[in-house]
Amino acid sequence: MNDRTQADSTPRKLTIAIDGPAGAGKSTIASRLARKLGYVNLESGAMYRALALKAIDRDASFDDEDALVKLAENSRIQLEPTFGGNRTLLDGKDVSSRIRERDVTEAASRISIHPKVREWMVARQREMGAGGGVVMEGRDIGTQVFPHADLKIFLDADPVVREQRRMEQQKIKGDVAASVAAELRERDRRDRTRTASPLVAASDAVVINSTALSEDEVLAKVEELVREKS
Ligand code: DC
Repeated sequence: MNDRTQADSTPRKLTIAIDGPAGAGKSTIASRLARKLGYVNLESGAMYRALALKAIDRDASFDDEDALVKLAENSRIQLEPTFGGNRTLLDGKDVSSRIRERDVTEAASRISIHPKVREWMVARQREMGAGGGVVMEGRDIGTQVFPHADLKIFLDADPVVREQRRMEQQKIKGDVAASVAAELRERDRRDRTRTASPLVAASDAVVINSTALSEDEVLAKVEELVREKS
């Protein structure tokens, strides 16, 4: 086999972008897909969450864009893919669970509206995914981070279904459920209406509506799209 045929038979390491609103199933699909392909799964939201946690710990204002960028520049935010799932490290400390809590969730949504914060995040995310062989998920991966991604998926679902999924995932019931649902709707609104990189499907994204689909069915559809690109 000469070099050329060898190169041709090596599967291309694709860059795959998965965007969409909270509760559409992005994280699960992205991590299952990455595992199947032997790719790295990078969850960009975890980076916004890590910075939000730092802002909470340092008592920084969520509205002070310049202070938040300074905070980011002085932070070490690492996404560490492991077999058991992804770990997020902030300044060397594992904050994977802490960043899922309600206060951090709310703060992440607020700090992510700032253009300069987003610029900083996008630059880091591009570095992390530079080699290909990556499934990155978020809100602006197909539109800003990797506008030339090999495959762009926009995963959506009916808002009521997304809220229900979130409640089941986080085992939330009763009175708390109503306020958590209201918070999710507010974050959705903020994501879609912010001036800097609002949540929209890239014009060349494949939109998958998962309202009536199981996780396995969504994954099968995405795998089919990956095969077409490989
Ligand atoms: O995906 P997530 O819920 O972990 O994201 C946390 C917050 O970060 C969410 O409110 C929107 C924001 N985010 C963003 O603006 N852009 C991304 N690429 C990922 C997340």
